[in-house]
Amino acid sequence: MEKMAVTGGAGFIGSNLAERLASQGYPVVILDNFSTGREQNLSGWTGRFSDRVEVVRTDINETDTLRRLFQGVRFVFHQAAIPSVPRSIADPALTHASNITGTLSVLIAARDAGVSRVVVASSSSVYGDDQTLPKQEDRVGNPLSPYALSKAVCEQYCRLFQQLYGLETVCLRYFNVFGPRQDPRSEYAAVIPRFCTRLLAGRKPMIYGDGEQTRDFTFVDNVVDANWHVANHPRAAGGVFNIGCGTRTSLNQLVTWLNSILGTALQPSYEAARAGDVRHSVADVSKARDLLGYTPAVSLQNGLERVVAWFRANTEAWDGTA
Ligand SMILES: NC(=O)c1ccc[n+]([C@@H]2O[C@H](COP(=O)([O-])OP(=O)(O)OC[C@H]3O[C@@H](n4cnc5c(N)ncnc54)[C@H](O)[C@@H]3O)[C@@H](O)[C@H]2O)c1
Repeated sequence: MEKMAVTGGAGFIGSNLAERLASQGYPVVILDNFSTGREQNLSGWTGRFSDRVEVVRTDINETDTLRRLFQGVRFVFHQAAIPSVPRSIADPALTHASNITGTLSVLIAARDAGVSRVVVASSSSVYGDDQTLPKQEDRVGNPLSPYALSKAVCEQYCRLFQQLYGLETVCLRYFNVFGPRQDPRSEYAAVIPRFCTRLLAGRKPMIYGDGEQTRDFTFVDNVVDANWHVANHPRAAGGVFNIGCGTRTSLNQLVTWLNSILGTALQPSYEAARAGDVRHSVADVSKARDLLGYTPAVSLQNGLERVVAWFRANTEAWDGTA
């Protein structure tokens, strides 16, 4: 079977994607510098697929190493990035190096190695200050953070590499992904793993702002499905697609649902809103549906039940840190 490469494969989304590819029988090379990725995202499953999974500790800016590792690879799933808005505001140079220069390196290596298609993780953050709801792919505003800017630049590099060098690229604008292996521990952690682990530890979840900001929370299996779908779809090449569920949920509503799944009744505490955060975000999912026939299979409610079950069963992933 043809080989696949996953950059950022030791991270949350990348490890879920790499596991799926390996379980479908594909040889997979994982490239990661373990800056935010973790060994434990790999240790639970790579042993089952030791005949076909190779893990290489490398920075994606090591273009020569990537060129070598991409030999014979059909699809590159580029997930590696510093994935946080507040972290990008605190350290824009780091975000630039990993997200922009790193993506350029991935594209150059993929082009030189003759890779068929590169699927790139973009982000709903590229919609920036545009107020239109739901978010449609062709209406983007000004980025509100170095992270958002980095994803917008990556999309432009992808477009150019397809136009100039014939390297097929697809960009997926993920909307607030959640699921097993998402890291709740850092100060830059996403809300669902933070809320879940705080509630499991019997502590109040903490919300930045009034909690009425809305997001389109998307279970990670939907994102994994979408990556595979667009890698194989002839009409996806050169495209940019929203990957979300198309439903808006406020953070206050999310806490209510998580409390009900967990059987707890812990009310949130509120802190000042953070710079760079958009107020409302929800995907218009019609482009991926109408052009490619992709629809998300896992509902928010079902995804929340699954992620709560995972954090309950994997306390070592967060114990003592919530
Ligand atoms: N999680 C979300 O809600 C979300 C939303 C929109 C977009 N995204 C994008 O999806 C991708 C995956 O995000 P995630 O949530 O799994 O984050 P993550 O931090 O769990 O995974 C990112 C991985 O990239 C690796 N990495 C970072 N810089 C690297 C470098 N220079 N060289 C090699 N490896 C490097 C990290 O070690 C980590 O394993 C990112 O591109 C992110 O921007 C995520």
